[in-house]
Amino acid sequence: MTVTCRFILFRVAPAAALAVLVGPAGAHKDPVTPQQLSTYQQVFMEQVRKGDLLFHGDAATEKEMAVVLSNTGMACAMCHPMTADTHPATFPKYQVQMAKFATLRDMINWCIEKPNQGEKIADDSEAMKALEAYIYWSQSGTVLNPGKF
Ligand code: HEC
Repeated sequence: MTVTCRFILFRVAPAAALAVLVGPAGAHKDPVTPQQLSTYQQVFMEQVRKGDLLFHGDAATEKEMAVVLSNTGMACAMCHPMTADTHPATFPKYQVQMAKFATLRDMINWCIEKPNQGEKIADDSEAMKALEAYIYWSQSGTVLNPGKF
């Protein structure tokens, strides 16, 4: 791969090379209108809101999403107030508890199954996406530090 790229950059005139590099990437980067931006932000904040409710053990939201995140009466927020110690910016990383290389989603499920004794949720479920959105939103501005132990 590296060899091919070097070859192309070497052989093609600089302007053409730039067009090749910028062209495809720019094609799907149409400017976003303020209306679109507002819609996209609303979609995100709606997920954050749902994740916030799940994280605080809201029974109605769990029922609506058909998940059982805890059977101990403990909600995520009781051990992780304001998402403390969830360290989203450090994933993926080696996780000692699971003795494997893990994603944030793996660790969310670990907490659901172990301390919470709840029922594991699918990686691509609405509940997982909402929890992830809430955790990341809560830790906005944190510098990414993947792999940090
Ligand atoms: C009874 C307390 C308790 C509850 C409730 C709990 N956790 Fe945890 N959580 C822990 C402990 C203990 C760890 C491991 C801390 C460590 O070793 O880094 C942890 C770790 C995590 C981590 C990974 C942090 C890291 O850097 O490795 C995430 C993410 C997480 N919890 C999310 C959740 C979510 C989401 C919920 C609710 C579904 C939840 N937790 C509920 C105790 C709890």
